[in-house]
Amino acid sequence: MSGKVLIVFDGREGGMIDRMAKSVASGVRTAGLTAICESVENASMADLENYQGVILGSPCYFAGPSAKMKKFMDESWGLRGKLKGKIGGAFTASEHIGGGNEMTLHALLDFFLVHGMIVQGDCEGDYFGPIAVKSGCDRDDVVVDDSGECARLGERVARLVGKLA
Ligand SMILES: Cc1cc2nc3c(=O)[nH]c(=O)nc-3n(C[C@H](O)[C@H](O)[C@H](O)COP(=O)(O)O)c2cc1C
Repeated sequence: MSGKVLIVFDGREGGMIDRMAKSVASGVRTAGLTAICESVENASMADLENYQGVILGSPCYFAGPSAKMKKFMDESWGLRGKLKGKIGGAFTASEHIGGGNEMTLHALLDFFLVHGMIVQGDCEGDYFGPIAVKSGCDRDDVVVDDSGECARLGERVARLVGKLA
């Protein structure tokens, strides 16, 4: 298969989102595609056009995407029509199990739908995308083991890119 998948993420080094982004990338590579991880500060709009798949990873802030991720999404408004038919996927992390993580995922998935992109649900794992939840005391303890789900997301997006290429 050929094709490239861009993973745009907002996460501190070694944090949950950073770790999830790496797992997603490993899944993309397992499926034989190129995976590039780019922090949301460094990702450019031109980047989006150059990839067949785009995966967004944002922490859950006030039950939605972080301000940095929202800014990135808003700046893509001028690209309307140019991302049509590409494949999208999303993942998030939150402090609380019921802290708005699914709402965050839906906001990220809306980004793809507004751009006319394709989002595949998952009937075998996290329906809308992988979610990690941190545990009580250690900031980097992850309650929900995200590694399998993240790699699967990367693999699923990559395989769909391959099918539709
Ligand atoms: C400004 C801010 C808002 C947050 N809002 C929420 C929230 O609404 N729900 C929640 O469960 N966690 C919330 N959190 C916790 C973060 O979601 C959590 O620490 C983050 O996902 C950790 O990701 P990281 O390890 O990649 O930094 C918030 C944290 C910050 C700094």
